Amino acid sequence: MAPREETETEAATGETPVGAPAGASPPALGVGMVGYAFMGAAHSQGWRTAGRVFDLPARPVLAAVCGRDGKAVRAAADQHGWAAAETDWRDLIARDDVHIVDICTPGDSHAEIAVAALDAGKHVLCEKPLANSVAEAEAMTAAAERARARGQVAMVGFNYRRVPAMTYARRLIAEGRLGKLRHVRVTYLQDWLVDPDFPLTWRLQREHAGSGALGDLGAHIVDLAQYLAGEPLVGVSAMTETFVRSRPLPAGASAGLSAGGGGAAERGPVTVDDSALFTGRLASGALASFEATRMAAGRKNALRIELNGERGSLAFDLERLNELSFHDHTEPAASSGFRRILVTEPEHPYLEAWWPPGHALGYEHTFVHQARDLLHAIATGTEPEPSFADGLQVQRVLAAVEESAEKNAVYTPVLPELPAPQAL
Ligand SMILES: NC(=O)c1ccc[n+]([C@@H]2O[C@H](COP(=O)([O-])OP(=O)(O)OC[C@H]3O[C@@H](n4cnc5c(N)ncnc54)[C@H](O)[C@@H]3O)[C@@H](O)[C@H]2O)c1
Repeated sequence: MAPREETETEAATGETPVGAPAGASPPALGVGMVGYAFMGAAHSQGWRTAGRVFDLPARPVLAAVCGRDGKAVRAAADQHGWAAAETDWRDLIARDDVHIVDICTPGDSHAEIAVAALDAGKHVLCEKPLANSVAEAEAMTAAAERARARGQVAMVGFNYRRVPAMTYARRLIAEGRLGKLRHVRVTYLQDWLVDPDFPLTWRLQREHAGSGALGDLGAHIVDLAQYLAGEPLVGVSAMTETFVRSRPLPAGASAGLSAGGGGAAERGPVTVDDSALFTGRLASGALASFEATRMAAGRKNALRIELNGERGSLAFDLERLNELSFHDHTEPAASSGFRRILVTEPEHPYLEAWWPPGHALGYEHTFVHQARDLLHAIATGTEPEPSFADGLQVQRVLAAVEESAEKNAVYTPVLPELPAPQAL
């Protein structure tokens, strides 16, 4: 790897520059993570494992984790392997041994933490959806652009791009194996809100989550559709619904997906959607359909996507994430059909570092791949994917979906980037 100029961050922290000449041991990059529950555990797994599996240009060090309760965050640090614990994210950002700030909190704090971390000279990984509003996502993207000029990178945690079968599907589509794209069909279904007495956790409150199934699950499938198609959505027509409009107030702090702490007699209003259903048009004219719900009884984390082009089709089911179905429509009709590709060969994305063919990967590996890719982006000084700009584009789609739903499904353009203000 070619050496590059030392960045301001590295100069400030005294770290050996990432991308040092071959033979030098990889330099350490300290990670500081905010939030330690569901995604915090998954990201910890990624940071702990990436350097033990992949040959990395930098060695991630789990420097410090941050929560709001001192005792609980100390316990989380011990459980997940973090050297230190903080109770204020500002103190985490200020630490000299933290070079990457990893944001695993609900959406209401993403913008404030990310902008502060970038302005303080840190690289940032931020969970999805990037923010709770387009305005916040714009501010974050502007901060990322300013930081980019100083050699910092910022990435969004759309981890499903890093399922090897999805990365490989993108490669096949980019090679033209589907030809001109006609359809993208995506559903992301869960069932943890079917119970009307599931407590009113942060995911059901607009001020904390921004939106409901839309921002939680819809953000993933919008990103995946745009990533695989290689083009943005330009307009949508949408319906959303909140089937259960009040829920029991949680008795105590409760993790987003667990029912723990519920059951109180007092109920509060649900201020987000339970389900979002929308169609869309991609820039090339291809049509797309999306369904995101937490009300699909029996469906636990069922993400399915199919793409149809003039030369073939691809289909994927997250419950069988080592497999990709591919139909080559240029083959003779009599012998053609969907074939199952087992995406575990060393030639497949990320697989060169894992197990022999057929020894399957799972959900957690996507977070290892995410850590790997961010460290490579830092080392090579390249824009990571998905960037904050990609996260902003998804946010604009979510906003267009909400606007369309408010207008009874009227077709609503996804606002393009605003032109730069004209000089007077
Ligand atoms: N990539 C994925 O597949 C995926 C899956 C689930 C959640 N997410 C996203 O990850 C983020 C977190 O979701 P989660 O499921 O981990 O939630 P969670 O409720 O399980 O955990 C949230 C954590 O943030 C902490 N926290 C909240 N506010 C804080 C603050 N101001 N300072 C410090 N800590 C704070 C909480 O104490 C908790 O540790 C959300 O943006 C969510 O949309 C992504």
